[in-house]
Amino acid sequence: MKDTLPHWYLIGTGNIGVLSAHYLQQAGHSVTALRPGDHAILQRELVFGEQSCRLTLPVMDANRLVRPLDALLVACKTPFTRDALLPLQPWLHQDTLVVRLQNGMGALDGLLPDGCTLIETVTTSAVKGRPPRHQVVAENDTWWGGLPQPPDWFPALQQHWPDLHWQADLRHRQWQKLVVNAVINPLTALHDVDNGVLVNDTALLAQAGALCREADALLSRLDPHWPGDSLPNVLAVARTTAGNTSSMRADRQRGNRTEIDAINGYLLRLAEPLGMDLPHHRQLVRTLS
Ligand code: PAF
Repeated sequence: MKDTLPHWYLIGTGNIGVLSAHYLQQAGHSVTALRPGDHAILQRELVFGEQSCRLTLPVMDANRLVRPLDALLVACKTPFTRDALLPLQPWLHQDTLVVRLQNGMGALDGLLPDGCTLIETVTTSAVKGRPPRHQVVAENDTWWGGLPQPPDWFPALQQHWPDLHWQADLRHRQWQKLVVNAVINPLTALHDVDNGVLVNDTALLAQAGALCREADALLSRLDPHWPGDSLPNVLAVARTTAGNTSSMRADRQRGNRTEIDAINGYLLRLAEPLGMDLPHHRQLVRTLS
């Protein structure tokens, strides 16, 4: 069985990247982190409640790769995807399996060879902290999908990755998460507030409503089965993560580039060919890019 498991290369050793590498290792997969520089290994501590465990990954500089990649996990922040994928271009081929573990959508568009297999994911797990210590605050559901069938080894991986599911058509789930991120992330980043403020502040609530209406109008045009009415779901997430700093607010506080282009920018790119304007999303993209 072990011989048939892919060897993974990981781009992005942040919270979700290291948690995924941990579950894959637990299931017997081997994972190498791709990072610039000469580090030979990467060590991280993953804290699960009272328990903690050490993750050790071999590290390789992407410029030193010498053979085609079997399998690639893309878990970097979306603004860095293009630069991270560039040195991999000679080593990606149509049999490379790519799993994208990122916020937003579309960050890999145009960066993968034709015919390459791409698995999309949606996770509601939450990991906090900064290297070398990552605190797994919630091990919730994660869906992999976007293809008719999972790989043969997927059921075995599910034994080691809590609440991991396969869903062939992930689109509505991805859109649902996209709208949550397109509302909570930019508003909390712009106003430098915790997620829960969105539920109680009248002005922010009105903006959240306008953003949801624009997104729902677009997504209903793309798919008449889109349920619309995103606001209650967005507010439910804001309530359950009330005390949290959204990832975009955290990026802005650290002076990092935000993921606005892969979130609200992606909605604008979907709207353009339909001749639709999303003025509230456009304004946020302009301010937070
Ligand atoms: O990006 C984030 O911060 C999270 O996806 C969410 C759900 C907005 C909670 O903070």
